[in-house]
Parts: sequence; C-alpha cells; structure tokens
Amino acid sequence: MQHAQTLSLPEADTERALHSERVVDFIRDRIHDAGGQISFAEYMHHCLYAPGLGYYSAGSAKFGGAGDFVTAPETSSLFGAILARQCVEVLKQLESPGILEVGAGSGKLAADILKVLAESGALPERGYKILEVSADLCERQESFLRREVPELLNSVEWLDALPMDFSGVVIANEVLDALPVERFIRREQGIAQVCVVTDGDGFGLVDREAPTMLIEAVEKIEAFLGQPLPNGYASEVCVAAPQWTADICGTLRDGAAFLFDYGTSRREYYAADRSGGWLRCHFRHHAHDNPLILQGIQDLTSWVDFTAVAEAAVDNGLDIAGFVTQAQFLIGGGLDKYLVDFAELSTDAQLKLSAEIKLLTLPAEMGENFKCLGISRGNLQPPTAFEFGDRTTSLG
Ligand SMILES: C[S@@+](CC[C@H](N)C(=O)[O-])C[C@H]1O[C@@H](n2cnc3c(N)ncnc32)[C@H](O)[C@@H]1O
Repeated sequence: MQHAQTLSLPEADTERALHSERVVDFIRDRIHDAGGQISFAEYMHHCLYAPGLGYYSAGSAKFGGAGDFVTAPETSSLFGAILARQCVEVLKQLESPGILEVGAGSGKLAADILKVLAESGALPERGYKILEVSADLCERQESFLRREVPELLNSVEWLDALPMDFSGVVIANEVLDALPVERFIRREQGIAQVCVVTDGDGFGLVDREAPTMLIEAVEKIEAFLGQPLPNGYASEVCVAAPQWTADICGTLRDGAAFLFDYGTSRREYYAADRSGGWLRCHFRHHAHDNPLILQGIQDLTSWVDFTAVAEAAVDNGLDIAGFVTQAQFLIGGGLDKYLVDFAELSTDAQLKLSAEIKLLTLPAEMGENFKCLGISRGNLQPPTAFEFGDRTTSLG
C-alpha cells in the first residue's frame, strides 16, 4: 500500500478543514459499501463532484487569487476577446447559430466573449448556452453575468443536457482535465487498476486486477505505441474522455468546437520516461502530487491525451480543424491587434497588459503546455487561429 506523503502546503482554514472531514466521511462510506476499495476514478469523482460536497459541487472559491488556481480566462480578458473573434469566423458561416460553453467556471469567459460579440454586433441568433455540471457554479455564473453584463443576461441560457442538433460553436476550457481518470500499473502478468482504500484515519492506494474496460484502454495505448509499456510503468487513462468527446460531436450538427486544456499527444503522454503519470493537485496556488489529502477542498486534475480526443472526434464524423499551443492560438487569432495602441496606454496599463500576455503565451507559463484542439463538422473555412504552427500530425 502506498501511503500519503507529508507535504509542506498551506493550512486549510477551519471551515475548509471541517468541509473536508465531511467529504472524507462520505468517501469512507462509499469504500465500505463497495467492500473495501474503490477505483481511483471513482475516488476522484467523489472528491470533485459528490453532490453538495465535491470540489466543484460545493461553494469554495476555486478560481482566481482567493482560490486554488487560475485559468486563462481568469488571467486576462484577452483570452475571451480573441476567442470571441474566432467564434465569429465560424458563426458567420452558419445559419441560426449559437454558442455553447461547457463547464463555464466562474462565468468570466462567457462575460468576456459576450462583451466582444455585443460590441461588434455579432451576438449569435441562438444566444449563449451554458452546460455546467455544478449547481453551485451555475448560480455563481448567473450572479457574475448579472453584475458584469446585465444587459446581455437574456442572451444566456443554462441547459441541463447537451442540446440536440446544435449549430454553432462549442467551447470547453479546462473541462477535459477535470474528468476523473483511472490509474493503472503495467505488470508482466497484466494490467493492474489502482484503487483507494481506507488506511487508519486516511486513505491509501492498492492495486487489483483491472476490469475489462481498463485493460482495453491500456491495450489500445500499447497498440498505438507499437509495444507494451515497460513492466512497472504507472500512469492514468481518462476512459471518460472519448465518450465526452463523442457526446460533443453528437450535439454538433454543424460548426466547430474549441477544446482548450493542458495536454499533449499520446506518444508523449505515455513516453517510457514518463512513468508516474500526469495527475496534479492544486491547493491555494500550490501544485503537488498527493490526491489522498484535502479531499473536496483541492482540485484534482490530469493532463489530456489529445490523441484520444482527436480519435474520438474523427470516429464520430468530425474533422480536425487544427491543434495548436495556446500561444499559437492567441497569436494566430490576432493578439497583435490588441497591442496597436500599446504606446498610448498608461505605464500601469502597459505593465498589466504585458504581464497578462506573458502568462498566457510564454512557454514556461501557459503558452506551451496548454493546447487548443479544434474540431468541426460541415464545409467550414478553418478559423485563422489554426493557420500557423498546426501540430495535428503530432497526434498520430
Ligand atoms: C477547471 S474548471 C474550468 C472552468 C472554466 N472553463 C475556466 O476556464 O475558468 C472545470 C469546469 O468544468 C465543469 N465540468 C466538469 N465536468 C463537466 C461536465 N461533464 N459537463 C459540464 N461541466 C463540467 C466544472 O464544474 C467546472 O466549471
């Protein structure tokens, strides 16, 4: 059994610590009900989405300075402004289109996009739809949008499920990385599934023979690589990602989806020297690798195997519009236009804008690790953000 490591992280305040105790009790009950162990994916699901308790289901701050991590839209409105212009390129090729954002977080990206669309007279006929799994975040998105763009609130609609026959643009920023992952170990005699058990007051990891769906997922990776993973190799696989992608494809009658996340090609994801996987935990702006602590009050997230997402899109009849780094997307999408008046800005505004652009585009910040996969259906002109630096061939 692998025990939780001791880490130097900030202390959780009393309210958060008490909340985490409730999440721990909930997970202990689930482990007991399951006969002593649950898969890592189920554990991650409870940590993030247990009703009223999980990290995304309950009321903690999460995003921005007071939370645990920042995302691109939280970093700068430039991200939404550039993405809005890419949306317009797609929307104007379609009849009666709309925008659908999946997993809208605080609502910041929606507000930034709506502002630009309204200013340029390009609000789509079918409005801006949001599909959000967390009831708490839906409420927060509504009050954020009411405060930021009250005059546009009637263009926004919250959905309970993916729409049928949708024409338009789908946006998902850092949603794929929030889907629970299975952890596995390649053993000589087969694939082992990593499971979570109780261990005193806390939790530990054990492994057991993997179920068929996990064996098939790992065998698919090995077939792609053309050889078995090394004995003892440990990593994770998001078995939910292909189905999530298929659902997005199923909804899109015509149009495009922009899927942003940190991730890489399958070849790099499962490189021989990358045993240990890509799971990360975020607590009050500290990134670490111990998922067995701070249940329900820290984010658990894993890099995305973009080959798996692209394969699922193609299997469901979509085309790959492009695969670029976030920096390339923003530069190709017209970042320079926002710098035309740079010299006329105040010194403070210049410093602020420079800092935001650095965070969004530098390779050591979000520029290189974050990617955008564009997928499309219909006879569409590809958005200009994919014109340069396309890495689609790296996915094969
Ligand atoms: C890491 S946050 C990103 C939030 C926001 N997109 C941003 O960039 O700031 C992940 C978001 O996806 C939502 N989410 C996770 N799984 C989802 C699903 N299957 N359907 C819809 N929303 C989901 C979470 O509740 C949360 O709002």
